[in-house]
Amino acid sequence: MRLEPPVPVSREEYVLNVRDIEPLLQGYPMDTKPWPDATIKLRTGKTMYIRAARIDEAKTLMSYVRQVMDVEHDFYDIVGARVYAEILGWYRKRIKDPYLMVGMIDGKLAGLVNGRLMNEDINISLHTMTFERGGRLGAALFYCKAYYAFEILGQKEFWSTYESYNGWRIGFLGMAAPSYPWPDVQHELGGARVYYITRKYWDQAVKKYSEELVGDALNFDVPDEIVKANQELVLPDDVTV
Ligand SMILES: CC(C)(COP(=O)(O)OP(=O)(O)OC[C@H]1O[C@@H](n2cnc3c(N)ncnc32)[C@H](O)[C@@H]1OP(=O)(O)O)[C@@H](O)C(=O)NCCC(=O)NCCS
Repeated sequence: MRLEPPVPVSREEYVLNVRDIEPLLQGYPMDTKPWPDATIKLRTGKTMYIRAARIDEAKTLMSYVRQVMDVEHDFYDIVGARVYAEILGWYRKRIKDPYLMVGMIDGKLAGLVNGRLMNEDINISLHTMTFERGGRLGAALFYCKAYYAFEILGQKEFWSTYESYNGWRIGFLGMAAPSYPWPDVQHELGGARVYYITRKYWDQAVKKYSEELVGDALNFDVPDEIVKANQELVLPDDVTV
């Protein structure tokens, strides 16, 4: 767009350096606490270790999620495609204050969970994906995400929405989460309904419900050998969901 200047000017052109444009496109990150390493015992008897993903692991994660995008059942394709874009957004710094945790079982990636911070008060839940079925890993990872919002970051609300019946059953039905009027309030994922959990409701019921659903509470006293053994992000051999 061009308009004539309303005043005579001594300089007609200014050169822009992309480094001056970048802060406008990227924004400035909030100063947030990272997810602390944790473990949780699953109903299968196995232990899942949940740690924050590192930015240098983004491409490795994307390579796996790209394969998951080909799975046509249980909404893995759409969730995979969205997660792929969110990880790329994190890698290319085009998503505001994202967080991403990986769940590792027996030294291999077993699931992931991500979201972003709208502001200091509201946590936007983006996605949960499990690559091993049947052990309620997804419920455990979703519990981590809400725990992060309320217990680590001290936020006031956790906003989620669901593409799949399995996700909806855990996060909406199981948690009896209220929703904001729709379509007046829309989640950034496709303009769907916003289900929300307040801090009060988390303290009253959701935290306990999550622990009962998964069968254990989070343990933050993680032995060094577990941390060390899971530093490298080892992918599952195949997609078997
Ligand atoms: C939603 C999701 C994270 C839930 O993961 P989860 O808690 O580990 O649960 P599963 O999907 O493995 O299983 C759900 C239920 O169906 C059963 N089930 C479904 N498919 C199964 C399969 N292929 N093998 C074993 N069990 C299966 C499980 O036993 C479980 O029942 P239970 O809760 O009574 O134990 C996971 O299904 C997933 O990643 N789905 C694709 C992505 C997605 O939809 N993400 C959420 C976006 S809304």
